[in-house]
Amino acid sequence: MVCLGNICRSPLAEGILKSKLDAEHLVDSAGTSGHHGGELPDKRSIEVARLHGLDIRDQRSRKFTVKDFDAFDVIYAMDRSNYDDILYLSRNDDDKSKVKMILNVSFPNENLNVPDPYYGGDKGFVNVYNMLEEACEIIASKINN
Ligand code: 4NP
Repeated sequence: MVCLGNICRSPLAEGILKSKLDAEHLVDSAGTSGHHGGELPDKRSIEVARLHGLDIRDQRSRKFTVKDFDAFDVIYAMDRSNYDDILYLSRNDDDKSKVKMILNVSFPNENLNVPDPYYGGDKGFVNVYNMLEEACEIIASKINN
């Protein structure tokens, strides 16, 4: 799960998906910028997760690296700009084929963005949570089957 800062959107996506999986799977999140490396998720993400019974305070922000193409089968970008930044780091077609826009899971081929909630209010985080909940439900149902 990849966004820009790895403190707002992708920590929620990581927490939600992990909570829905029946078996142990490697799920992680990262940011393309690395500007918040080592930080906890944003307080507003922690709060909206808590309201849904999820504790994401064990997560720390880290930068997406080229090694992530080797470690993961699928790489979900939260928005188009994250998608482009990840593709820029890809080394080959195999890497490229792993990168998806996460909302295409719920809205195929629409290339919709999970809006960046960082500079907005709490409502933005609720909106982001609901979008990610819907997408992660579909992702988890495929993995759990
Ligand atoms: P995220 O949100 O990419 O969902 O973690 C942001 C976090 C920080 C910044 C921008 C977006 N920032 O500009 O510091």
